[in-house]
Amino acid sequence: MNVPTATATHSAAPEPAVSAPSGSAPSGSAPAGADPFRPAWHYSARKNWLNDPNGLVHLDGTYHLFYQHNPSGDVWGNMSWGHATSADLLHWEEQPVAIACDANEAIYSGSVVFDPDNTSGFGTAGTPPLVAIYTSAYTDASPLRGRQAQSLAYSLDRGQTWTKYAGNPVLDRASANFRDPKVFWYEGPSESYWVMAAVEATDCLVVLYRSADLKNWDYLSSFGPANATGGDWECPDLFPLAVDGDPADTRWVLVVNLNPGGLTGGSGAQYFVGTFDGVEFRSGTTVTEGLQRDSSRMRDYAWLDWGRDYYAAVSFNDAPGGRRIMIGWMNNWDYAAATPTGAWRGAMSLARELTLTRRDSGVVLLQTAIDPFDGPDRGRISLAPRDLHPGTVDLLLPEPAAAGAGPAAAPAPAPAVAARIDVDLEPGTAARVGLLLRTGGTERTVLAYDTATSRLSLDRRDSGAVAFHEGFASVEHVHVPLEDGILRLRVFLDACSVEVFAQDGRAVLTDLVFPAESSTGLALFAEGHGARVRSLDIRR
Ligand code: FRU
Repeated sequence: MNVPTATATHSAAPEPAVSAPSGSAPSGSAPAGADPFRPAWHYSARKNWLNDPNGLVHLDGTYHLFYQHNPSGDVWGNMSWGHATSADLLHWEEQPVAIACDANEAIYSGSVVFDPDNTSGFGTAGTPPLVAIYTSAYTDASPLRGRQAQSLAYSLDRGQTWTKYAGNPVLDRASANFRDPKVFWYEGPSESYWVMAAVEATDCLVVLYRSADLKNWDYLSSFGPANATGGDWECPDLFPLAVDGDPADTRWVLVVNLNPGGLTGGSGAQYFVGTFDGVEFRSGTTVTEGLQRDSSRMRDYAWLDWGRDYYAAVSFNDAPGGRRIMIGWMNNWDYAAATPTGAWRGAMSLARELTLTRRDSGVVLLQTAIDPFDGPDRGRISLAPRDLHPGTVDLLLPEPAAAGAGPAAAPAPAPAVAARIDVDLEPGTAARVGLLLRTGGTERTVLAYDTATSRLSLDRRDSGAVAFHEGFASVEHVHVPLEDGILRLRVFLDACSVEVFAQDGRAVLTDLVFPAESSTGLALFAEGHGARVRSLDIRR
């Protein structure tokens, strides 16, 4: 969000905060047709507004997703932390509102840590606490009006109920734009402690602090401005990743979301790869330093997503096996308040696992979606390798397995369009190849590879409802070199989204689309001769 205080676009008239009903049905359970844009595999609140994922933490087999939530309206306002839980990052169950705003403060973004040694003293040795570190955005009723500072709340019942710390705020820089703390446990060679990465948003600075008890914080260092600086820096994240799993070759990744000033002007998620010694982050991927007025280098920076709808991306603390799993808000502040979804508004991306791997070009970041279709092999169609002639090849999505066809075939309550498409294309001498997604009547979302420019583009200009905001209709693109002549695509379709993972997640494009329910068609296309389909596999 650009302006954290109330604005016409992002905030509702103040309404009293209310608690959402608890234990709502898993996402995707609405009867078909009743709620055509409700995603099957992307978390959305049963009712009302949602933005950033907050407090992502794994504890005892449960993933906790907290999130920016307006419990009483379908636009931004009354910011509180909503809560959902999942065992598998795919089936989410909505929980009661975790931390509610009050007359003095809105509860802005932040993180949750499990404090096993009870360093905070909020729990006991036998009942260690979960501790939320969030931004208090003080209202006019507060003596701290106009400021943003970091505060704590704790839970002794695995995240169900939360108590605000009486000593809040715990870190106050007397700043109006100090927010979005990501806290993690840093295991150093000689010392271990809590580290907080937060932002001075308008200065495009990530500020780092350390603490032994989560209550007292000492300044470590700052990073920035660097690379994309055309808006507020928001929601930072800092974490280690071992290159190809080799702990001796560990790099640190600093994620910096920004709005506006993303690749396409609105919200965007950039990252830096470098080192962190417990005090300072040093980037090895800085292209430009300082506040940039010149945006000509935007495509030289590293972006987690080259589409328009992946923002406020942050990762889980304590994911099993040391995995680094991230979720973003599948939206863009440019038009988030106008999306035509009904009584709920806002959904999360699929969760993605991040890894670093060595390629000829150097160390690269790969993103792999947690895959809803990785189960029993139902509703699958495949295509044998074949030449692709100029024109289109219709690919009919298979019907869902019939009810009563046995337990293995029990249909997931999914919109007709939820599918995964894996395709390996060899563009050869064709000018363009790709997929037509969600086709019907004049509607289509075009995923195209342009051979001459090596550009993969996602065109949603004719995707369906686009007129709800003047900036929504758009074409995004990313440079994707072929690998051994092949373009490997994995595409996830859901009721209102397209997520494209190219070359094993080397480049990702995420876009919202709002097609008619009847636009369920799918086709391959080629312009020019010489293309081939190496393999194609569709699951739903
Ligand atoms: C990012 C953001 C954060 C802030 C929150 C308020 O989308 O603007 O910086 O904490 O949303 O809802």
